[in-house]
This record gives sequence, structure tokens and C-alpha cells, in this order.
Amino acid sequence: MTTLTTQMSLLLLLLLSIATFLKTMSTIDHTMVSCNEKDREILLTFKKGIIDPHGLISTWTTENNCCSWKGIHCDNLTGRVTRVELSSPPLNVEEEQLKNLKGEMNLSILKLEFLTHLDLSWNEFDMINVPSNHHNITHVSKLLYLDLSSIIHHSSLQMDNLDWLSPLSSLKYLSLSGIDLHKETNWLQAVEKIPSLLELQLRSCNLNNLMLNPSIEYLNLSSLITLDLSYNYFTSQLPNSFLNLTKDITYLDLQGNYIQGEIPSSLLNLRNLRYISLAYNQLRGSIPDEIGQLPRIQTLTLAVNMLSGFIPSTLGNLSSLYSLSIGFNNFSGEISKTTFSKLNSLDLLELTSLNVVFQFDFDWVPPFQLSQLYLSDSNQGPNIPSWIYTQKSLESLDLSSSGISSVDRNKFVSLIERINVTLDLSNNSMTQDLSDLTLKGLRIDLSHNNFTGGLPNISPRGVKQVDLSYNSFSGSIPHSWKNLKILHYINLWSNKLSGEVLTHLSQSTQLRVLNLGENKFSGTIPVNMSPDLEVIILRANQFEGNIPPELFNLSYLTHLDLAHNKLSGSMPKCVYNLTHMVTYNVKIWQYGIVLELFTKGHDYVYVVQPDRRTIDLSVNSFSGKVPVELFELVQVQTLNLSHNNFSGTISKMIGGMENMESLDFSNNKLCGEIPQSMAFLHFLGYLNLSYNNFNGKIPIGTQLQSFNASSYIGNPNLCGAPLNNCTTGEENPKNVTPTQRNEDEDCIRKSLYLGMGVGFAVGFWGICGSLFLLKKWRHAYYRFVDGVGDKIYVTLMVTLYVEDLAFLCKSRI
Ligand SMILES: *[C@@H]1O[C@H](CO)[C@@H](O)[C@H](O)[C@H]1NC(C)=O
Ligand SMILES: *[C@@H]1O[C@H](CO)[C@@H](O)[C@H](O)[C@H]1NC(C)=O
Ligand SMILES: *[C@@H]1O[C@H](CO)[C@@H](O)[C@H](O)[C@H]1NC(C)=O
Ligand SMILES: *[C@@H]1O[C@H](CO)[C@@H](O)[C@H](O)[C@H]1NC(C)=O
Ligand SMILES: *[C@@H]1O[C@H](CO)[C@@H](O)[C@H](O)[C@H]1NC(C)=O
Ligand SMILES: *[C@@H]1O[C@H](CO)[C@@H](O)[C@H](O)[C@H]1NC(C)=O
Ligand SMILES: *[C@@H]1O[C@H](CO)[C@@H](O)[C@H](O)[C@H]1NC(C)=O
Ligand SMILES: *[C@@H]1O[C@H](CO)[C@@H](O)[C@H](O)[C@H]1NC(C)=O
Ligand SMILES: *[C@@H]1O[C@H](CO)[C@@H](O)[C@H](O)[C@H]1NC(C)=O
Ligand SMILES: *[C@@H]1O[C@H](CO)[C@@H](O)[C@H](O)[C@H]1NC(C)=O
Ligand SMILES: *[C@@H]1O[C@H](CO)[C@@H](O)[C@H](O)[C@H]1NC(C)=O
Ligand SMILES: *[C@@H]1O[C@H](CO)[C@@H](O)[C@H](O)[C@H]1NC(C)=O
Repeated sequence: MTTLTTQMSLLLLLLLSIATFLKTMSTIDHTMVSCNEKDREILLTFKKGIIDPHGLISTWTTENNCCSWKGIHCDNLTGRVTRVELSSPPLNVEEEQLKNLKGEMNLSILKLEFLTHLDLSWNEFDMINVPSNHHNITHVSKLLYLDLSSIIHHSSLQMDNLDWLSPLSSLKYLSLSGIDLHKETNWLQAVEKIPSLLELQLRSCNLNNLMLNPSIEYLNLSSLITLDLSYNYFTSQLPNSFLNLTKDITYLDLQGNYIQGEIPSSLLNLRNLRYISLAYNQLRGSIPDEIGQLPRIQTLTLAVNMLSGFIPSTLGNLSSLYSLSIGFNNFSGEISKTTFSKLNSLDLLELTSLNVVFQFDFDWVPPFQLSQLYLSDSNQGPNIPSWIYTQKSLESLDLSSSGISSVDRNKFVSLIERINVTLDLSNNSMTQDLSDLTLKGLRIDLSHNNFTGGLPNISPRGVKQVDLSYNSFSGSIPHSWKNLKILHYINLWSNKLSGEVLTHLSQSTQLRVLNLGENKFSGTIPVNMSPDLEVIILRANQFEGNIPPELFNLSYLTHLDLAHNKLSGSMPKCVYNLTHMVTYNVKIWQYGIVLELFTKGHDYVYVVQPDRRTIDLSVNSFSGKVPVELFELVQVQTLNLSHNNFSGTISKMIGGMENMESLDFSNNKLCGEIPQSMAFLHFLGYLNLSYNNFNGKIPIGTQLQSFNASSYIGNPNLCGAPLNNCTTGEENPKNVTPTQRNEDEDCIRKSLYLGMGVGFAVGFWGICGSLFLLKKWRHAYYRFVDGVGDKIYVTLMVTLYVEDLAFLCKSRI
């Protein structure tokens, strides 16, 4: 998968803010001086509008000295407030709910005369109040640092204009990222009034105008060093004059806009540029040859555009280049060692999905030692290019979909055993036996190959994600897999694996996705499974025995597929303890994975967050009554109990399962009438009740008639459309009496009420900044994020189900 350096800076930013945050929160007091009365009043006015559900600023009470309040720093001689730092980044990025401030951000706080530093980032304010008399600030502002950046929110923060910036004439750092500024069409001029500005962050601000007002001859942003305008809506070309604004700029991020046209030649005037990203735009034309004259460039990111023509060999002159990412474009011609001749600093190379011919001599030894190489979908095969074996410090390697079928075994083994972050060789035709290897990548994807023999060992240091699906691995799960404490995701779908192996995996206490389907595993389902499991797929194996009741205590479980095994016994009432199927919380930052989802009588391959709520127990030997509690799992979308020996009736509670899309009870011994309440299943697209003992009349006036007779056949005592007309004798008992109807509705209301807890955990804007367009939708992607300062975060943030998240990011308004 592909990584861009932006994500790295993002990570750094995050870590920095966490560091700042921790510092802020721990080292305040010892202040001798007492707070200036005027400053205290201003702070208390600011506090009035704030909602503080987590008590972050509970120390801001009227009694205490304001210099010892949380987040406040005073000058230790004068007692005047100089810094306000109320940034609340998540300490652990997987935190579902951020602990932060809400309510109104009252910019009257800028009246603090001696304020130099104001950081309100990572909060969730609902509105910004720019006091009307703000312009009348008479003191010469000392403010140097202003960060009001916001996280993604369903109701986004808005500002009508930036006029309030004009008194802040000393500002050096300004971030308004995540605030909706689309109403401010003259944002450039507003910013120009701050001549001292060094760094400007306007990521995700819904800005849509890059053009200068024609009445203005030029803008002077001559001091700007860092400019981040990524993820806005600049749909025009990049005007030549725009890049003329500033000559000293070193960092320019314009990625994730809709910029058209060619790369403007004025770009080449920016002689101090060290970082530039134009990725995820709609740039056409070719990369200008003069790019080789940007002497200091370290990061060049042009991926995901429509650039064409030859890749200029002048790139080879950029001896400072550290990160080069140009994948997902429409280049032609060839790429050879001249393109890389002097790139001895190169660390990251991303050439995903390029149609160019790779002309490297067999014995080429590159001048660089990469740590990350992304060559997916770029026709490297049938051999792994030999120069890759010279890369001794590779930490991440993506060679997926590259047509590789043969390898130099010794070199190959040593290469992949070294890789410790991402190893992706998926969708090739490799046939090696890996049983003696020990892999240590945190993320290993060898799916869709023809690997044979036993499973490779996994380093005790552990992996987080392992996908070996669609191969020919055989034997049982090796002992080395026993203590994988940090394993989050495992997919062994469609291999030839066997044995009673689940006890190994039950020690993976962080496991969230367990997919062992389409193998020959046997034995019983173990009792001690990871409490974090969200997806369990044991489909098409030889498991036997009962479902242990403990399985139903997995409160995060949303996808349970035990179909096509030899399981027996009855379904316990505690099925109701699958609480995420009762009240489901959408967690947008978790991960997107591929599920082989069997629903509506077909199988689909879905790249989804694992939020398809599924219970599939079909083709086993389950018996006994279907517990009423099953029908209280109102979030379930696919329920398949077919081909078992279930008996008893269907509860009318089923009418409350209003998300239901696919219902299959066929080939059981169910009896009684079809509940009238099934009319409430408005999303039902597939229904199969055939081959049971249902009787009475199929409820009418509902979509239950839209299914054809095959949904109902094999029930000798069932009648009514689409089956045969009922004789009058059978019809009468089915006439719905008013009392019966009320009962039905009562039970439905109860179920609906249970389902009302659906909430949305909110992601932070950083995720949206990390979108990377990957077309390899059929592969399992798993994103997990932790606060660790390595590249895992970076790599994984970009392997996603792009459309969903892009939608969320762009539709914040
Ligand atoms: C915001 O600050 C102003 C003072 O400039 C004050 O009059 C107003 O009441 C404050 N707003 C809230 C909601 O507290
Ligand atoms: C005041 O702060 C400065 C640095 O901020 C420090 O050097 C000085 O020692 C402090 N003075 C007192 C009295 O704490
Ligand atoms: C602020 O200044 C404007 C003129 O710039 C004036 O009209 C207005 O009355 C002043 N408001 C306050 C509250 O001082
Ligand atoms: C731009 O502004 C800087 C200082 O703010 C000044 O030194 C420089 O002359 C200005 N340039 C132009 C072309 O106005
Ligand atoms: C860019 O600036 C240079 C000198 O500062 C000037 O000669 C040129 O005309 C400007 N170009 C545009 C397109 O504004
Ligand atoms: C590299 O730069 C030198 C001079 O700076 C130039 O002569 C040479 O043609 C350039 N090489 C490439 C491949 O552009
Ligand atoms: C890609 O380039 C080829 C010519 O090399 C052109 O025919 C084709 O239309 C281009 N595709 C896109 C999407 O621009
Ligand atoms: C697998 O690789 C082939 C080329 O080797 C490619 O055409 C196909 O799209 C890839 N499939 C996936 C799902 O990436
Ligand atoms: C991977 O190995 C390199 C040394 O080759 C090391 O610097 C780096 O920290 C390791 N990364 C992880 C995530 O273990
Ligand atoms: C794996 O091997 C089988 C036969 O040995 C072949 O039919 C299949 O196409 C191969 N799969 C891949 C992905 O090469
Ligand atoms: C269901 O969960 C509740 C509370 O979490 C627990 O007390 C109860 O024992 C569970 N039921 C079963 C059958 O495990
Ligand atoms: C079913 O009954 C309706 C009238 O209720 C009648 O029009 C129709 O012909 C009957 N169909 C059959 C197959 O008996």
C-alpha cells in the first residue's frame, strides 16, 4: 500500500500535540504570582460558553488564582496570562469518544493583552463567537501562535469571514483547519494583512477560491514558509500568480483538492521548496523537465492525478530527495536507472499502478537504501526485480498484483524475513513453501497466491494483521502463533488447513476479526475468545458440538458466520447479550475489511467496515426452539437459520428487526402462523420460509406478496398470495383483530426503543487527510492505529475503503 509523507507529518503533529498536551496537563502550578484580575474576568467569560463534559477545566473556579488553572500560563513576574493551551488530542487514537471541550468558542479571549499563544485544537466546539466589538481591540496584539483547528464533526464549525484576524498583526503561526470558511471568498487578502505569518494551516476548510480578486495587483505573503491548503475545493487551475505569492516557501501541501490543468511553471521559482504534495487532484499534462532544478526538494508527492507523458529523467538530479510518490497516474514510456542516478537519499519510493516499462539492468545496484517501497499493480513479474534484493533496510514492501510467479528462493526468504512493518505480496502467483520461515511484519498480506506447505511461523514480537487467505496452505496452526498478544486481524479463508487449533488463537486477547472459513478445521468452538471480537467466520469447516454460551457474551460481535459445519444443540437465550446487534455504534476510524458475505441467497464480497450485522447458522444440525431473544437483536441485517432442525414458532417480535434485509428460515421444522408484524420489515429484499410447517394465511397488504411462491413452498398448510387462495375455513382465524394488532405494535415499539442507541463516534480530521485511493477493493484492509511512533500508523491510515471515508470527510457540512 502506498504511503505519503504527509501522513508522517500528521503523525508527528499528533505526537507533538500529545506531548504538549501531557506537559500542559502536568506542570502547571508552582506559580507564585497571582493572576491579573482583568485577565481572570476574560477567562471566565470565555468559560461561560464552554460545555465541559469531562471536567477538563474544572479547576477554573472563581476562587483560585487563574495562573494555576489548567492550561493557563502566566508571566511569572507580572501575573498576566501569556499562554492558553486547551488542546485535547486523543491519547490513544482508538479512543471512541474524545475527551474534549464542546459548546461555544468565544473569541473574546483574544482580549487578553499579553497573550502570545492560544491553542484550542482537538476540541469539538459547536460554534465560534466572534464578538462584534472585536475590532476595537486597542492593544497591539502580541499573539504569535493561534491554533483553532477542529476535528470532523457532524455540525461543522463555521466562520463567515476572517476580518477578525486583522488586529493580530504579529501572528507567526495560524491554523484554522477543519473550520468551514467557504463564505470567506477573500481569504487570501485577509491572510495577507498578517505580514509576519510564517505558517498557515487551512486544511479541510471548504475553501473554493484560489483566484485573486482581479482588482488586486499582487499579494505579498513574502514571509510564509509553510502553507497547507489540502482537502479544500479548489476546482480551478493553479494560477501562475498564486505560486508567486511567496518565494521562501519550503512546505506546500495542496493535496486532496480538485485542481485542474497542468503543473504551473511558476512552481519552479520556489527554490527553497523542501516538501510539495499535489496528490489527489486532477492535474494533467506532464511533469516539467525543470523539476530537476528544485535543488532542495525532499518530498515530491504527485500521486493520484492524471499526469501523462514521460517521467523526466531530470528527477535523477534531485540528490536531496527522500520521498518520491508518483503512482496512480497515466505516464508512459520507461523508467530506468538514470531516473534514480543521484537519488542516494531516497527512503520512500511509491510507483503504484504505473503503466511504464521498468528498464532496470539485472545487476543494477541502486544508490539508495529504501525503507519503504510500493510497487503494487505495476507489472514487475514474472520475477521479483533483482535490485529489490539489494535493499537491506526495507521495513515495508508492497508488491501486490505485480504478476510475480517465481523468486530466487534464498534471497526471497531473507528479504521477507527482514520486513518488520508491512509485507504485501497479495494477488500474485507465488507457489513457495513458507513453512520454515519466521515472518515479523506487523501487517502481512500473502493472500491470493498459491503458497503451499505449512503456515509460516510468526515472530513472538507478534503481528497485528495477517491475511493468508486464498492459498493452498495445509497442516495446522503452528505453535509459534500461540502468543500473538497484539493480533487484531486474522484471515485464513480458503486454504486446506486442519486440526483443532482454536485454543491457540484464543490467547490473542486483542483479536477483532477471526476468519477461518473454507478450511478443514475440526473440534469444538472454544470458550475463551477475545472479548474484542467483532467478526467470527468459521464457515465451511468441520466444527462440531454446541455453541458455547460464552460466544454470545461477545458484546462487540456484529458478524457471526458458523454455516456449513457439524454444530448441534440449541440456541441459548443469552443470544441477547450480543449487544452490538441490539444497539450498534458506528465507529468510523476502526477499519474496513473484506467480508465474504452470504446474504439474499447469494454471496457477495464486500469491502466494508465490519458493520454488516449478520447471523448465519445455516447447514448445521441445530435443534430446539428459536429463542424469542434472537428477535430482539434489532440491528441484524442478515439472519440465516436454514437447513437445521429448529422448531417452534416465529415470534411477532421479528417485526422490530427493522434493518432486516435477508431472512432465511427454510428447511427447518418451524410451525405456526407467519406473524403479521413481518409487514414492518421494509428493507426485506430476500425471504425464504420454504420447507417448514407454517400454516394459516400469508399476511396480506404488505411486501410479503412481492416474493414469489418459492419463498413459501413446502409448507402444506400455508395459503394465500403468492400461494393458492385459502379456503374460507382457514382464512377466518387469520383475520387480524384490533387487539392482536396492538400487541404486535407494542412488541415492535419495544424493539425499536432498544435500537435507538445508535450513535456516531466521531473521527478526527487527520483521517480524512490521509485518504489514499486504492482500487484493490478485493483485498482485506485493516486499519488500526495506535499512538506508537512508527510508520504503522502511516501505512495503515492509507489502506482504506476510500469512498466511505471520503464521503464522510467531504460531506461535513
Ligand atoms: C462572549 O464574550 C462576550 C464578551 O466579548 C460576552 O459579552 C458574551 O456574553 C460571551 N458569550 C457567551 C456565550 O458567554
Ligand atoms: C521566570 O521565568 C523565566 C523563564 O520563563 C525563568 O528563567 C525565571 O527564573 C523565572 N523567574 C521566577 C522568579 O520564577
Ligand atoms: C468599535 O469601533 C467602531 C469604529 O471602528 C465604532 O463604531 C464602535 O462604536 C466601537 N464599538 C465599541 C464597542 O467600542
Ligand atoms: C512584502 O512585504 C515585506 C515585509 O512585509 C516587504 O519587505 C517587501 O518589500 C514587500 N514586497 C513587496 C513586493 O511589496
Ligand atoms: C511573478 O513575480 C515575478 C517577480 O516577482 C514577476 O516578474 C512575474 O511577472 C510574476 N508572475 C506572475 C504570473 O504574476
Ligand atoms: C543534472 O544537472 C546537470 C547540471 O546541473 C545537467 O548537466 C544534467 O543534464 C542534469 N541531469 C539530468 C539527468 O537532468
Ligand atoms: C492515458 O494516456 C493515453 C496515451 O498514452 C491516452 O490514450 C489515455 O486517454 C490516457 N488516459 C487518461 C485517463 O487520461
Ligand atoms: C490481481 O492482479 C491482476 C494483475 O496481475 C490484476 O489485473 C487484478 O486486477 C488484480 N486483482 C485485484 C483484486 O487486485
Ligand atoms: C523495523 O526495523 C528497523 C531496523 O531495521 C527499526 O529501525 C524500526 O524501528 C523497526 N520498526 C518496527 C515497527 O519495528
Ligand atoms: C494456483 O494453482 C492452481 C493449480 O495448481 C491454478 O489453477 C490457479 O490458477 C493458481 N492460482 C493462481 C492465483 O496462480
Ligand atoms: C449476559 O450479560 C449479563 C451482563 O453482562 C450477564 O450478567 C449475564 O450472565 C450474561 N448472560 C449469560 C447467559 O452469560
Ligand atoms: C383467488 O381468489 C380471488 C378472489 O378472492 C379470485 O379472483 C381468484 O381467481 C382466486 N384464485 C385462485 C387461484 O383460486
